[in-house]
Amino acid sequence: MAIESPNYRPLVFAHRGASGVCFENTMSAFKEALRQGADGIELDVQLTADGVPVIIHDKDLNRVAGIRNPVSTLTLSELKEVKVGRKFFRKFNGHQIPTLSEVVSFCAINHLALNIELKETVSERPEYLRDILDMALLLDQVHISSFDAGILEQVKMMEPSLEIAFLVKKKTTDWDDLGKYKFADGFHLSKSLMQEPYLSKLKNSGKILRVYGVTGKEDSVLNPSPSIIGWITDYPGRFT
Ligand code: G3P
Ligand code: CA
Repeated sequence: MAIESPNYRPLVFAHRGASGVCFENTMSAFKEALRQGADGIELDVQLTADGVPVIIHDKDLNRVAGIRNPVSTLTLSELKEVKVGRKFFRKFNGHQIPTLSEVVSFCAINHLALNIELKETVSERPEYLRDILDMALLLDQVHISSFDAGILEQVKMMEPSLEIAFLVKKKTTDWDDLGKYKFADGFHLSKSLMQEPYLSKLKNSGKILRVYGVTGKEDSVLNPSPSIIGWITDYPGRFT
């Protein structure tokens, strides 16, 4: 179901957790988002070799852990041995990669909304979608997002009750026919699309909108419409 903001205050989603101050997509970043007063968190889902949905943005471990292996070649138990974030915080021992199941439990206990972004390895192995959707359905405030329209269409067919957000892109989205994205309840746009002609087209689509890439409260003056119901930011504390 769509999340309604009381009095149209856009809800604040911590992008990859409070990733402006913690290492992205880790339990530390999600706990910090809660501490900063975020309404929800955004995270990225990839699949392990044994089909477990885990929280990591990239297809491989190079940027986050200095290891070249693709996530999809390691089992969950192998992946749990990997420590991410070490090279960014030198004195730090690194974090484990969380599973989607762990984060869903965290959100349920702490009444956080969840924005689950499906990444490439999920699109490549849609046979694991059912597991992801069953976990999502444990939460009251949840939506599924992706840049991949095809996988979102499958989600909508499998679970019409789940809210779907399509991540629009300047170059690849069909801006002359936004009506074709019928599977989507909402559009998520980067801050760079908060300009004409994109903004009018998005507002006229009648869908709910959330904006990512915003970094400070001054961005909220960009809000021209109650159709924008969410900010997705690395710094949730600046918006709450
Ligand atoms: O919420 C949208 C945003 O997360 C998409 O970009 O690269 O951070 O996953 P990315
Ligand atoms: Ca994301």
